[in-house]
Amino acid sequence: MTDLPTLQQIVPKHVAIIMDGNGRWAKQRGKLRTFGHKAGAEAVRRAVAFARRNGIQSLTLFAFSSENWRRPEKEVSVLMDLFMTVLKRELKQLHDNDIKLQIIGDRSRFSERLQRRIAEAEQKTAANQLLTLNVAANYGGQWDITQAAQTLARQVEQGELTSEQITPEQLAQHLQLAQQPTPDLVIRTGGECRMSNFLLWQAAYAELYFTPVLWPDFDDDVFLQAVVEFAQRERRFGLTSEQLESVIQKIETRVEE
Ligand code: IPE
Ligand code: IPE
Ligand code: MG
Repeated sequence: MTDLPTLQQIVPKHVAIIMDGNGRWAKQRGKLRTFGHKAGAEAVRRAVAFARRNGIQSLTLFAFSSENWRRPEKEVSVLMDLFMTVLKRELKQLHDNDIKLQIIGDRSRFSERLQRRIAEAEQKTAANQLLTLNVAANYGGQWDITQAAQTLARQVEQGELTSEQITPEQLAQHLQLAQQPTPDLVIRTGGECRMSNFLLWQAAYAELYFTPVLWPDFDDDVFLQAVVEFAQRERRFGLTSEQLESVIQKIETRVEE
């Protein structure tokens, strides 16, 4: 009999999450939307710990879309402050846990101070290896494809490339996340079933998992359910469901204290 697959084999290499539902979570509690964003930061910490414990190599979190600037000014400013505070507060922990942090998106619209802090955090964690944590901030899938096209267009202008030489593989090399495994699982919390301009190109073949759970309530159990569903959809090991079950039991969830 062949051996059962290892946990490493059933766990997706790259998970991307659209963290949606903070506003509704707060509203249900009679609080301001920004209260939900703060609670959402705790859910981020849990998700990162889950990914790290279970051998996920890349975790990409959609924190702020290129369309989110349209929100009320006050909410945008709270989100920017929160981004700054969380970066400052969590950096040491991320670094101590061998996590590499990368921000994807158009950072030119952020304040100088935030841009500096991002660059410092990326530099400090650049050599870490256990998990790559990508935070998508001022990110849009259409922006991503456009900026890759611009890079190729510049190469054509400089005579380094002809337009006929442009292939999907080549364009993909200039997208965000190009150096990482392609996302194999995209999770969206909050119940909406759309991509909202997230990883439009990179998620072409990803499994999509939608859950009504609001982001601040996202915990190890919900993450586990998504991973289990992913493993079952893959069916690449030809196992029985009992065999799969015994592998799944090795996934580490932690009881919240
Ligand atoms: C997601 O939660 C967080 C961001 C987009 C920044 P929302 O703020 O979209 O929460 P809902 O969808 O309004 O409940
Ligand atoms: C998607 O959520 C963006 C993030 C989670 C950062 P939104 O709440 O902005 O998406 P829509 O507006 O429902 O499509
Ligand atoms: Mg939303």
